[in-house]
This record gives sequence, structure tokens and C-alpha cells, in this order.
Amino acid sequence: MNRSAIINKRAFSAAQDFILSTKTFWTIEIFSQLDKEKQTEEIEKTTTYKFFAWLERHLQRYKYSGRYGIYNFYNQQHEKIKSPPKNHKNLKLDPSIKLPKYYTQIDIHQHPGGLSKDKTAGYVYEHGARSTTPLGVRNHQDLHHRFTNSILASGNPKKILDMACGFGKSTQPFYKKIPEAKIIGIDLSEPCLTLGSSIARKDQASNVTYMQVNAEKTNFKNKQFDLVTSTMLLHELPPKSIKNIISEAHRILKPGGKMVHLDFYLLPDRFKRFIHFGHSKRNNEPYMVSFAKMDITGILKTLGFSNITIEPFEEADGVLDPEYQAWRFPWTLISAEKQ
Ligand SMILES: C[S@@+](CC[C@H](N)C(=O)[O-])C[C@H]1O[C@@H](n2cnc3c(N)ncnc32)[C@H](O)[C@@H]1O
Repeated sequence: MNRSAIINKRAFSAAQDFILSTKTFWTIEIFSQLDKEKQTEEIEKTTTYKFFAWLERHLQRYKYSGRYGIYNFYNQQHEKIKSPPKNHKNLKLDPSIKLPKYYTQIDIHQHPGGLSKDKTAGYVYEHGARSTTPLGVRNHQDLHHRFTNSILASGNPKKILDMACGFGKSTQPFYKKIPEAKIIGIDLSEPCLTLGSSIARKDQASNVTYMQVNAEKTNFKNKQFDLVTSTMLLHELPPKSIKNIISEAHRILKPGGKMVHLDFYLLPDRFKRFIHFGHSKRNNEPYMVSFAKMDITGILKTLGFSNITIEPFEEADGVLDPEYQAWRFPWTLISAEKQ
């Protein structure tokens, strides 16, 4: 790499702080200026909307790419980032895994190369995830802890599968809150799993294993999990893969076991759909739209699930108040039980 392109930590942090502050301004001030009562064709013509859409696309692009982007920052440390330990007991990689096309063909979230391209991808994703929800950034942990708490409030699962665990942000609250349970996190991304397993070792967690497995077809034995979860997985997949995942969850759950997905699904009005479908294009997440249009209740019933609930999820205090004005994802909790 050309030395002039090397960015020190201070310059990198300053640029990232600037991006985050602008994103916060976008989230509150610019979003609230959009006229929600207008027809969407009319909103699209306004300067405020064009500015809103441009900033959404390019703040995210600037966050990952270019001179001060997260991708550049971690890639200039490529040599320092260790390769995965081959045989650690909390990490099981599969060098022969076949990555699906929907996974490799898109730079998801505008992350150059996505989550599988090189060994820094886990670090890049971890850094990016610190500001996925800009208002929650000071307490971003909240989201996954709230999710775990909402499940543990009504059960005491002993064996848990976190599908698409990434670098373990969704898995950590489970292994921390129920040390007596056995937790498995699966994902396609070797760099994310490697980072997740090293965080678990630092946490001295002995009840978690990370495995490189496709959630569509896991090879786990039938009827062995009390709980199967995912957070922010389904909207990244084409409909056929979503059906495969739900069907796979049904197969590996014990009778009476629970499946819970936290994702972006309920879009109760025209304006919310318009903003979310625009986000899908602007953030390189093409399957958000087909997922939001799927009849998930119908699929769950056909596959034999019961006690189905699909409801808005409060990712931070007060966000479900009808008066709440800032931009947010349509967080939705999809839960069902195997009969
Ligand atoms: C937005 S991330 C969410 C990660 C984590 N659950 C969280 O909440 O931080 C989506 C994850 O899904 C994984 N993924 C996508 N398709 C998958 C599949 N078919 N099987 C397993 N993991 C998959 C990606 O590698 C990525 O880590």
C-alpha cells in the first residue's frame, strides 16, 4: 500500500465521528422534515427528500470506503490481524463451505467485498455495527440485550442456536446471561466467526461454540434445540432461502421449542414502506423488499408452527410512541413454537 494512504487512528476517529454526527442529524432533523402526508411521488420530488436519500447512501459509503473508511483502516493493518487458530475448541470452520450467490454477489451494507472476502471483514463489520442505529450508539448493546431479555422472560432454554451470529453480538447476551446453557452460533463468514470466538475466549465463556454452517441446511440432528434465533438475517435473503431457514429451524427444534427472529418486517403505512424500500436500494440490501412482502404467518402455519406472534420490537425506550419522529428501522419480533 502507498504510505501516503496510511491513516492514523486519530484521523480515522475524527472522520468517523464526523460521519456519525452527520448521520445523527440526518436521523432526527432531516428525516422529520419529510412531509409524511404527501403522496410518495410528490415526496420524491422535494429537495429535502433528495438530500435525505443522497446522505443515506453516501454517509454509509464514506463510513466504509475511501481514505477514512473503516475498510481502509483495517486493511492497512492486514498483516497484523492474525489468521484463525485452526483447532480451537470454540471455533469450527469449514474450508469446503459453498457460499450462496446472494451472499457473494452484493457488497452488503456497502461493505467492500462483504463479510467473506478477507480476514479483516469481521473487524470491519464489528466497527460498522457500532453505529447501525445512530441514536442507540451510546448504548448500542441495548438492542441485543433487549432481544435476549424478551425471550428469557418466558422460558429457560438449555440448548440454543443463534443462526447468522456474525461476530457474536447476538450470541454474547445468551452466553453471558445463561452460563449453564449450551449455545451454538452459526454463520457463513469465517472472519466474523473467528472474531466472535476470540471475543468469547476473552470473555472466558466456555458455553459457546461458533461454527461455519449455512443456516439453510445445517446438518444438526432433528429435534435437539430448545430455542433457535436470528437477528437481522431474514431481510438479507431471497424468499426461497427464508423458507429453507424456517423449515430448518422447525426440523432441529424439539417439540415445544421456540423460534424467534428479530428483523425488519412490519411496515404498517405507505410512508414507512417508501422509506424502507428506498433504504433497501441505497444500502445494498435488495431482499428487504421481497421479505417485507412475504406472508410469514402463512409459511409458519404451513410448516407446523403454532403460537405465532409478529409484533413491533422496541429497540430503545420510547421508540414505539406514535409521536416519535426520528428515523428508525421497522424492528419486528417474529416468534413461533414447534407443536
Ligand atoms: C446483519 S448480520 C447480523 C449478525 C448478528 N446476528 C447481529 O445481530 O449482529 C447478518 C449475518 O448473516 C450471515 N448470513 C447470511 N446468510 C447466511 C446463511 N445462509 N447462513 C448463515 N449465516 C448467514 C452473515 O454472514 C452476517 O453475519
